[in-house]
Amino acid sequence: MTDHVETPSVTVEALGAGHADALQRFFAGLPEGDRTFIKEDVTDPATVRAWAEDGTARWVATGPDGGIDGYVAVRRLSGWSDHVAELRLVVGPRRRGSGLGRVLARHAVTEAIASGATKLVVEVVAEQGAALALFTALGFRGEALLEDHIRDRSGQLRDLLVLAHRVDATWSAMDTLGLPEALDGDGAPDPA
Ligand SMILES: CC(C)(COP(=O)(O)OP(=O)(O)OC[C@H]1O[C@@H](n2cnc3c(N)ncnc32)[C@H](O)[C@@H]1OP(=O)(O)O)[C@@H](O)C(=O)NCCC(=O)NCCS
Repeated sequence: MTDHVETPSVTVEALGAGHADALQRFFAGLPEGDRTFIKEDVTDPATVRAWAEDGTARWVATGPDGGIDGYVAVRRLSGWSDHVAELRLVVGPRRRGSGLGRVLARHAVTEAIASGATKLVVEVVAEQGAALALFTALGFRGEALLEDHIRDRSGQLRDLLVLAHRVDATWSAMDTLGLPEALDGDGAPDPA
């Protein structure tokens, strides 16, 4: 689905085959330290090309020059966890601190809830204070700390934090009423 969320100079749209090259450039342009914190090998062109067709919901934020400044994905887990959606988010260095991460995260939360997911999770490397602050502000809470769970590109072990958000009946109702507005402020729906 193509989306419609816009900030003054950025458009959020569904990832399509036409974005493959720009998306590869986006990931290639991330500082090495950031690529460490992305689960897939985004330096592999085949991995990125396959994303346009693998069924996971993905969106990119494009600037006026057509370049990609942000990426977000919502992946539904399978089998006995098919009520759970995992979010992944990354914003390019030139756009950080301008609110794009929050726009994309809110977009992903809205889409995940609209798709019927009742639990949302995001995996954050423990050092990623920005991601922790962003998702906490949207109502996510730490649910698990997995010690030495990932290796960065230099082989160093790092802790992984699983943040989770439960979508209760109120949130589902808020979705039909306009969830993005409900996410303003502290991340919880406004009291009726
Ligand atoms: C996490 C990330 C997406 C934030 O993107 P961003 O566009 O810079 O974030 P925003 O400008 O929308 O900031 C939203 C909130 O995030 C938090 N935040 C952003 N940058 C921060 C920083 N450097 N330090 C602490 N908090 C920060 C703040 O709570 C901020 O709200 P505020 O502006 O009201 O203080 C970006 O840093 C990133 O891509 N990191 C690497 C990938 C990653 O860790 N992804 C998350 C796991 S999937």
